[in-house]
Amino acid sequence: MTSPTSSRPKILVTRRQFQDQVDRLNEVSDALVLDRPAPATPDELRAAAAGAHGIFAHITDAVDGAVMDAAGPNLKVIAEFGVGYDNIDVDAASERNIAVGNTPGVLTETAADFGFTMIQAAGRRIAESDRFVRRGEWQWFEPLDLLGVDIFGSTLGIVGFGRIGSAVARRALASGMEVIYVTRSQPENDLGCERVGTLDELLERSDFVSLHCPLTPETNGLIGPDQLKRMKPEASLINTARGPIVNTDALAAALRDGDIAYAALDVTDPEPIPPDHPLVTMENVTIVPHIASATVGTRRKMSEMTVENILATIDGKLPPNCVNADRINWG
Ligand code: DGY
Repeated sequence: MTSPTSSRPKILVTRRQFQDQVDRLNEVSDALVLDRPAPATPDELRAAAAGAHGIFAHITDAVDGAVMDAAGPNLKVIAEFGVGYDNIDVDAASERNIAVGNTPGVLTETAADFGFTMIQAAGRRIAESDRFVRRGEWQWFEPLDLLGVDIFGSTLGIVGFGRIGSAVARRALASGMEVIYVTRSQPENDLGCERVGTLDELLERSDFVSLHCPLTPETNGLIGPDQLKRMKPEASLINTARGPIVNTDALAAALRDGDIAYAALDVTDPEPIPPDHPLVTMENVTIVPHIASATVGTRRKMSEMTVENILATIDGKLPPNCVNADRINWG
């Protein structure tokens, strides 16, 4: 905790973190860790940020201009624990000369492992089969029950072919899938995947559609009623990117009406999704709580990188992974 007389920088850590990483921060600063079960409310976040040099932020924090202003002129860095940073208003940070850091690269393979696991979970109805057994309904061998879709030989459509999307593609190719993709910025790939001209074409051709694009104003609601209707009735939608990329009501309707067969979701809108939400009550859905990067090794590395992004700024340097470096001028 920062004492009123402390001249050391204050770092707000908004959730419980690996203690050795908090200790690293405490060697050169005073870390205030919000160690509580629920994320801070906006009011609590603004109050806790007062006087901070840095914020060690998480996906659950909406770090907007009001939080930055509540922190005051000492605020130099907002370091996100994750590669996605849509919860931070980067324009507001840049206008205030505040660096925004993130953790790219370190979670690519872990998130891709998980994305491919979700493809398999959807195709082979794993969660649904597990619930079937737990309900005591496994009485006999049933030759025609719980039939899934083959992974090998089917077509995977990847939306967003960056680090994680292309790492999912490598796994899919090794499993005998055909991979097609749409992407905003990447050049042609050398994996042997086909870049298709439009999202509509990808939706119409794919047996599995897996989302790997960031959440931006352009991708918010990218998959809505029209897009879901273009998918094959036996196809699955996998979202391990960000919940609001998919229109939740449209997805629930498409699953109910048989426009698509299955959804496997690591992220939802809203998040967390309430237990009585229609999607949660459907059998043809697998939902897990935003765990794509949640392995011990990867979450540790993410924590280390977040700390390194903060420590650099205490030394007067930009974070090693800074998303707005070109907009920061620290003289
Ligand atoms: C990420 O790194 O973006 C994960 O989704 C955690 O927020």
